[in-house]
Amino acid sequence: MAAHVLALASGVYDFVGVTVLRDHHESIVVRIGELMSTPLIIAVSAWKGGVGKSTTSIYLAALLARDTGARVALVDRDASRNLTAMVAQRPDLRDELIARGVHLISGEEIPRGRDAFPYSVIDTPPGDGAIASLRDATLVVLPVKPEDQSIGNFVKHLEQLDDARLAVSPRMRLLAALPTMVWRTGRSLVRQHQEHLDNIAAIAARRHPPLPVLPYVPLSTRVMNFDLDAPEYRPVAEEILRYVAIPV
Ligand SMILES: Nc1ncnc2c1ncn2[C@@H]1O[C@H](COP(=O)(O)OP(=O)(O)OP(=O)(O)O)[C@@H](O)[C@H]1O
Ligand SMILES: [Mg+2]
Repeated sequence: MAAHVLALASGVYDFVGVTVLRDHHESIVVRIGELMSTPLIIAVSAWKGGVGKSTTSIYLAALLARDTGARVALVDRDASRNLTAMVAQRPDLRDELIARGVHLISGEEIPRGRDAFPYSVIDTPPGDGAIASLRDATLVVLPVKPEDQSIGNFVKHLEQLDDARLAVSPRMRLLAALPTMVWRTGRSLVRQHQEHLDNIAAIAARRHPPLPVLPYVPLSTRVMNFDLDAPEYRPVAEEILRYVAIPV
C-alpha cells in the first residue's frame, strides 16, 4: 500500500472524529473507510482564462508524484489542449514528468478500476466549460490572480460552484484558493498585490466553512519556463499534501 492514507476534504467535521488539519482547515477529516479505495482527483479550476490553471496543474502533478512516489495522471480536459501543446513543445519537460511518474492524458476520461491512479490532477478550461469539466473531481483548487478582474471572476466562480457542485460531482469539495503570479520585489510584495491578497483572504474567510488560501505563487521566470525544480510551488504542494495525505 502507498505510504500515505488519502484524506478527503469534507464538510463533515466529526465523521470519524479525527481532524487532520489545524484552524480553519478543520473541515478536512480522514474518512478511513472511503480512503483506501478512493483515488484523489484534484481539479484546477477558474472561470477566468490565463490565471495559471495549466501551470499549476503541471507543478502539482510533478510535486505530488515526487513527494508521494505514486503514479499521477495529469489530465488535460481543456479542449484547446494548451497543456498538451506546452508539454509537446518541451521534450525535456515531458521526459522529466515521465521520469517522476506523471502520465499525461489528453482527453476527458480518467482511467478507472485496475488502471486507476492514486492521484489525478485535472487541468480544466476557463469560461463556459469550467463547471462541467469538474465531473469526477474530489477536490478543487481555485487559482486567482491579484487583480480586480480575476478576483471578480473568482467570486462569480464560487457562486457557480455552490449552485452546481452537487449536480456535477457530489463528492467534490473545494480545497483552497491559490493566489498566482504575485509580484514580489525582494522579500516584500508590491503594495497593490498585497491589497489584492488581503481581499482574496477576506473573500475566502467569509465562506462557511472558510475556504483555505494556499501560499501564493510568485511571478517567476523559472515557473514560466517550467523548471520543475523551481521553489515557487513547493510550499503549495506541501500544504496540499498536508490536506490530503498523512503518513501511516
Ligand atoms: N507564477 C508564474 N510566473 C510567471 N509566469 C506564469 C506563472 N504562472 C503562469 N505563468 C504564465 O502565465 C500564462 C498563463 O498561464 P497558464 O497557461 O497556466 O494559465 P491558464 O489559466 O491555464 O490559461 P487558459 O485559461 O488560457 O488555459 C502562461 O504564459 C504561463 O507561463
Ligand atoms: Mg490552461
